[in-house]
Amino acid sequence: MAKKITDNISWVGKVDWELKMFHGNELSTRRGSSYNSYLLRGTSKTVLLDTVWGPYDREFVSRLRQEIDLKKIDAVVMQHNESDHSGALVELMREIPGTPIYCTAKGEAIIRGHYHQDWNFVKVKTGDKLDLGDGESLTFVEAPMLHWPDTMFSYYDGCGGVLFSNDGFGQHYASESLFNDEVPEEEMMAEAEKYFANILAPFCPMVTRKVNEILAMNLPLKLICPSHGVIWRRNPASIVNKYLEWANAYALDQVTIVYDTMWNSTRLMAEAIARGIEAVLPGFTVKIFNAAKEDKNDILTEIFHSRALLVGSPTINNGYSYAIAGLLEMVKGMKLKKKVGAAFGSFGWSGEAAKQLSSLLAEAGFEVVDEGIRTPWVPDADALAQCEEYGRSFAAKLG
Ligand code: FEO
Repeated sequence: MAKKITDNISWVGKVDWELKMFHGNELSTRRGSSYNSYLLRGTSKTVLLDTVWGPYDREFVSRLRQEIDLKKIDAVVMQHNESDHSGALVELMREIPGTPIYCTAKGEAIIRGHYHQDWNFVKVKTGDKLDLGDGESLTFVEAPMLHWPDTMFSYYDGCGGVLFSNDGFGQHYASESLFNDEVPEEEMMAEAEKYFANILAPFCPMVTRKVNEILAMNLPLKLICPSHGVIWRRNPASIVNKYLEWANAYALDQVTIVYDTMWNSTRLMAEAIARGIEAVLPGFTVKIFNAAKEDKNDILTEIFHSRALLVGSPTINNGYSYAIAGLLEMVKGMKLKKKVGAAFGSFGWSGEAAKQLSSLLAEAGFEVVDEGIRTPWVPDADALAQCEEYGRSFAAKLG
């Protein structure tokens, strides 16, 4: 069912309450998501912006048909062509095969690569406009690597200014409410940050550049309509400013300790290190996660907003655990800046894990402050006291 946003803009997307994983198994979406598609009726042209994920293609087209005679859609604007937005194109274009598809040059290549169709592509660049009649238009702004090379935003100068931002400013957050002022702010913002940390963090320099470029245009802005989650109606500038903050080496006064453990020795070390940090930095939040048990994307979000990360693993087969290996691979991909790190772990005989984890942290861009700490077998009271002392000395380097 279409939902009215303004007199001439309707939401025609799909709320996916049951989506629990996204990007295959890469990203948890415990609060579901939505694939937002928008129908913009100008005086002389009607435009559809983006579609929905493939499994919902028939439902999407059938509902769209209830909202508008499909032949009256003058243009389809594809702002980004990952499958969650372009997945219904085949079903849609079967009905309106000659309708122009406005997209970037990279967008055309990606659509062709996905669907192998010779549709009526109209390539656009930053500053190109689609005239909607009555002096109104849609202006395209390329936003490469936010988060794919094809990404663009579209700015509508009617209705007080509407920015269609595709994945930018999105949240994997299912809601029957359309707007940010109609949902619990705290949980929605937690999803917005998780989205940024897990999808956009690697592209922080591009985020800063693009947001500043758009701010410099000084455009009126009444609404920001992303392709996932709720629309920013109350204070849309707030999420724009938040993006600038998140993109600039974001860090709260938090230390995150992530470990894996086989027989609890590395867990005992983690908890003792935490006690040491807490003793020196009582104003800091210290959080501990078992990487094998906790949601990996929630851990990544915690790391994203931490000043420091301690990673621990027992030595296993001259290496470290599977859960820590996977997590650190994802951390490396985030390209985080200005964060401090160190490693720890228990061992029986060879004991390489802590040293190897220190190298991985350095490779991931962390400032590794020391060689970390290892303890043999099960830590006794003296070993735990050393771990606490290690936590104190680590904390002193943050203070
Ligand atoms: Fe929501 Fe990058 O697709």
